[in-house]
Amino acid sequence: MKTLFALLNSMPAECFTAVPRQSASAKKRQFKAKLAAQPPAGARSAFREVEKIYLSRNPPPDYGAVVDLSCPHLLPDIEAHALESSLLGLLETSNDPIDLEKLIYTFSRYPGLLVIPNAIPPAAQRQLIKNCMRNTSRQPNLNNLDSHYLLPEEGLWYHFERSRKTPELEHEDVLVDTIAQKEQTTSARTRPECSRRLITDPAVDSETPIGILRAAKEQPVPSDSVKPEKASQLLFKLRWTNLGLMYHWTTKSYQLEEVFNRGSEAIVPMPGDLASLSKSILRAIPQYLIPLNQDWSDFKPESGIVNFYQLKNTLMGHIDQSELVKDQPLVSFSFGHSAVFLIGGTTRDEKPMALFLRSGDAMIMSGSCRRAYHGVPRIIEGTLPSYLDEIDKWDAEDQTKATKEDRDDWKIFAEYLRTTRINVNIRQVFPEGYLDRLSL
Ligand code: OGA
Ligand code: MN
Repeated sequence: MKTLFALLNSMPAECFTAVPRQSASAKKRQFKAKLAAQPPAGARSAFREVEKIYLSRNPPPDYGAVVDLSCPHLLPDIEAHALESSLLGLLETSNDPIDLEKLIYTFSRYPGLLVIPNAIPPAAQRQLIKNCMRNTSRQPNLNNLDSHYLLPEEGLWYHFERSRKTPELEHEDVLVDTIAQKEQTTSARTRPECSRRLITDPAVDSETPIGILRAAKEQPVPSDSVKPEKASQLLFKLRWTNLGLMYHWTTKSYQLEEVFNRGSEAIVPMPGDLASLSKSILRAIPQYLIPLNQDWSDFKPESGIVNFYQLKNTLMGHIDQSELVKDQPLVSFSFGHSAVFLIGGTTRDEKPMALFLRSGDAMIMSGSCRRAYHGVPRIIEGTLPSYLDEIDKWDAEDQTKATKEDRDDWKIFAEYLRTTRINVNIRQVFPEGYLDRLSL
């Protein structure tokens, strides 16, 4: 049973929506076949072995081996460094007091992995979460549901918020139709791969021929098994939304065609708050901690993804290697529930380290870690910080500072966050000057 749960949990949300409805016995047969297809324990990669520990529901995992940077009992191969105090102010996106205790952790076994626990103060986290939910999870940014549903232009969050603010208008909560239903043509199509990243994305770099980069990729096929759903409920199936330059996670490719035709104008700008936060974090890293003497001072936040994890969602081990630039970092921010994050090596055969990523943590993947296997096998129940819960759970000082808007709105965000982890990760895609050098 344990393996069965692990298997289910390791499947991204869109897998569930892409599989047609089946009878219980057909489902059982399918799971049995999948289990039989699993490699025997000895043949599983070292990464998968560790992943399975944290995927387990019954019994739940022992978190004793997970590195916890929120209480600094340091292990021999982990070092803590102070942020340069003159740079600390750059991290502040709100009026929260500057916390001089902020530390950057490095790991001798994972050069280029930098973690700043609690980098973002509570009020700034709340503001970033609000903007994220209201502005990023709707057009022009594409998300995992766009391939299957005719999503309302104003986005799903708008309807969730409205249904909570004015419950008497519940009947106006729009029913979101499916694309397959509209088209009625899907039976002739072949079903695409449903997983987000079970297959490793092809590695590309600035030497990859343009012909290969611009090759048209298959578009994801609308699932014919999904049913129309109320917008405010469909929100809980939102698994990721794209920012900036569009990368379609289902087809595992950046949509470069437009960019090669029109240049950088074709890139939708990254939301301002996330762009400046990622640049500020990078600027706050002292040069001696930056691997290979790279220069991050002109990092361009060209593309990003916001991952929305419900408590049972996971992200399989993968490498992010679709970006053409190799010497710029990936910057990641976590909000809401804590997660177990695994970081390994350049093959699945290296045993990964497990560490907690908590709300407000910033992580930088660079150097050899930029293209290392990593994943999120577990979101941990009961770990939502009280400052993201309803206002009466905030500490007294925060409560006195709460604005009228907080009092009116935060309840709704807290309701969503009670089952959610959000991760935002931001990348530069093109090497400096790459697009200018192409004759457009
Ligand atoms: C990703 C990713 C990690 C996380 O989106 O590529 O690795 O912490 N996310 O959610
Ligand atoms: Mn990743």
